[in-house]
Amino acid sequence: MQATFILSAASADQFPHTGLPEIAMAGRSNVGKSSLINALVKQKVARTSAAPGKTRLANYYLIEPDSPRQKSFYLVDLPGYGYARGGAESVEAFGQLTREYFDPTSQPGRRVGGVLHLIDARHPSLRPDFLAYEWLIRRGVPVTIVATKMDKLNRSEQRQTLKTFEKYGAVVLPSSIPAGLGQADIWKVIHQWAETP
Ligand code: GTP
Ligand code: MG
Repeated sequence: MQATFILSAASADQFPHTGLPEIAMAGRSNVGKSSLINALVKQKVARTSAAPGKTRLANYYLIEPDSPRQKSFYLVDLPGYGYARGGAESVEAFGQLTREYFDPTSQPGRRVGGVLHLIDARHPSLRPDFLAYEWLIRRGVPVTIVATKMDKLNRSEQRQTLKTFEKYGAVVLPSSIPAGLGQADIWKVIHQWAETP
């Protein structure tokens, strides 16, 4: 598999219109979106930071599978929400770029195949995450939750947090990059979305 950085879009007119499926990473700032892209593609293509607010644009990465039977697609690293927005609780927090990203009406030749909604495993009940999730679901796009940084919890906390995530009523995939947890399952979901016409 080959991963290549394609472009950083600052507004909707810069999104590619190639018809390739797009799999997006959404979530609060610092939750681990860029890190997950790097872990999935086993390359350091995306810039990460210990300080929140690193990714401010929509960054497109082209994924070209080795097998000719699998189609190419984009992984898209979206800006995080919940940072430097005056503590706004509403999903206005999603920011104009992300709202445009999920607005299909104005954008022929774009297909968002699914969204990985990353939520910090230590904080499964934050209101901005609930609001963001509901907003994504209302867009009619498939959403899978990824519970990130599971390594920061002990066994019993991990069990507890996964129980708490059940209230989303969504598929929740636990993930830890240092522990190599979750990436195989995340790839399965991505391939499923990328292959769905
Ligand atoms: P923005 O671009 O600001 O929206 O953040 P982001 O969601 O892209 O987060 P990023 O990938 O830059 O990661 C933020 C911090 O979390 C970095 O210090 C990462 O090393 C750390 N991190 C990401 N995933 C994990 C994980 O699974 N476990 C642990 N312990 N740390 C992680
Ligand atoms: Mg980032």
